[in-house]
Amino acid sequence: MIIRKSKGLHGQVQVPGDKSISHRSVMFGSIAKGKTEIHHYLQGADCLSTISCFRSMGIDIDNQGDIVVVHGKGLRGLKRPEGVLDCGNSGTTTRLISGILAAQNFDVVLTGDESIQKRPMKRIMEPLTLMGAHIHSLKDNGCAPLEITGGPLRGITYTSKVASAQVKSAILLAGLYAEGATKVTEPYLSRNHSEIMLKYFGADVSSEGTTAILHPGREPEGRLVSVPGDISSAAYLICAGLMVPNSEILLHHVGINPTRAGILKVCRAMGADITLMNEQSDSGEPTADILVRSSLLHGTVMEGALIPTLIDELPMLAAMACFAEGETIIRDAAELKVKESNRIQVMVRNLAAMGADVTETEDGMIIRGGRPLHGAVIHSCLDHRIAMTFAVAGLCAEGETKITGGECVKISYPGFYEDLMRLAK
Ligand code: S3P
Repeated sequence: MIIRKSKGLHGQVQVPGDKSISHRSVMFGSIAKGKTEIHHYLQGADCLSTISCFRSMGIDIDNQGDIVVVHGKGLRGLKRPEGVLDCGNSGTTTRLISGILAAQNFDVVLTGDESIQKRPMKRIMEPLTLMGAHIHSLKDNGCAPLEITGGPLRGITYTSKVASAQVKSAILLAGLYAEGATKVTEPYLSRNHSEIMLKYFGADVSSEGTTAILHPGREPEGRLVSVPGDISSAAYLICAGLMVPNSEILLHHVGINPTRAGILKVCRAMGADITLMNEQSDSGEPTADILVRSSLLHGTVMEGALIPTLIDELPMLAAMACFAEGETIIRDAAELKVKESNRIQVMVRNLAAMGADVTETEDGMIIRGGRPLHGAVIHSCLDHRIAMTFAVAGLCAEGETKITGGECVKISYPGFYEDLMRLAK
């Protein structure tokens, strides 16, 4: 992919459906009783991996493009897949599905691509084992391939070391099948889509601060789910609109759940001109249209409870900080090291290649903004969020920016370059 400097972004976009909510709608729909109709389902490779896993466990899923219909068979309706379950590049598929598989009356092997086989799975193996599950890392390295032998589970009260929605959701899903209540407490509140959707499907879920509580016994029922636009995909366009002078763009119907919308807070703290309009709600999830105008930005600090609310947006925010006056500090973000790539290292290297003044730290980075960036060869490391971040940075850099492996954007935003180029025309 080759990107050149832009003179301004103009127009309107409907970003694709939310990745987290799309995954959950197919998973919960598969183990619910009856039909789940999903509108604006994300047709990204990760969410297609989730569909294919549930199809191979006997669930009839009709993917009509924007609409997906899942014919759920209830909590006990899955059957043993013929072969290994392939989760592709998707951490959400791997971790959430493990919570469901832990309770089945069959055994299964779960794996994925090279990146997924490096990502830490002990964080779900430990609590699921406490619930009575048998999970074995076949290479004994705490990563996939995982062999899961399902069986009867008991509810647990668990305190997670990491603020991770994937960990929380895996435990809650196992809790649906367990004897007794399940409670998960996390250091900071992570995205709460599972709690919202499980409740919407009729399960007995509640939240108290950073604790989610599930009482088993109420079998989820199929529902109509309308998936909002993904704020993590909108993030690239929001930042592009702010960074490229003479821009004004409107993004329609984007999810603004507060556990996901940290990017809006940070952009505003940096001086961004962002207006929310037409606020509504979709299947329990708040949405809005987002109007963005180019802005003069200044540095900020991102830390603590804010981090889980913008974890996937940190690469883009780090790049934007290069165009802000003064210093930006990102800390408490060690989780970035165990995403699709080591996003601290990959960001620092690629930003430095473009001439940015950036220092890597143990749990984040420090960016001194205001230095002009120049085009460079960017190594995406096949990480979709890195590729999209540098496509946007390239719009503000002198000369050409070349992104290797840029097609990996298909993981979460298949039409990304088309949308960006249409705005940048
Ligand atoms: C996700 C949770 C986050 C996020 C990922 C999607 C989810 O991961 O980075 O892209 O859908 O639950 P963690 O829960 O591991 O932080």
